[in-house]
Amino acid sequence: MEVLELTQQALAARAHAHAPYSHFLVGAALEDSTGRIHTGCNIENATYGLTLCAERVAVFKAVSEGAKHFKRIAIAADTDSLTPPCGACRQILWEFCGDIPIILVNTHGKTETLQLKDLFPRAFDASFL
Ligand code: THU
Repeated sequence: MEVLELTQQALAARAHAHAPYSHFLVGAALEDSTGRIHTGCNIENATYGLTLCAERVAVFKAVSEGAKHFKRIAIAADTDSLTPPCGACRQILWEFCGDIPIILVNTHGKTETLQLKDLFPRAFDASFL
């Protein structure tokens, strides 16, 4: 699969965002080891604190459907300075995906790829338990 297809799926998922409070729409597209793409969008709530980010929605959807190994994730938002995953999502991505490439994209097609390990060094994980 081309990177462009993954970023397009992240942008398409962004259109489903439920973000009436922040108006900040985010989409994610997570590719598993079989090539299947699992998408997610941010889903806010009137209590604010129950909001789920697009990345975690994509990961939890994928895991709940039996996906176990992941290749990369694309994250789409509408910012000039490309939007990276929040700290909570970095932890969840590390747990389920390990050191995968994180492809950031905006609505103008600007992209940048970062490794999760660089965004999230010295992670706490199962190796400490
Ligand atoms: N958000 C995401 O979905 N992913 C990110 O990487 C950054 C933040 C959402 C959470 C909330 O609905 C809105 O963006 C503003 O923080």
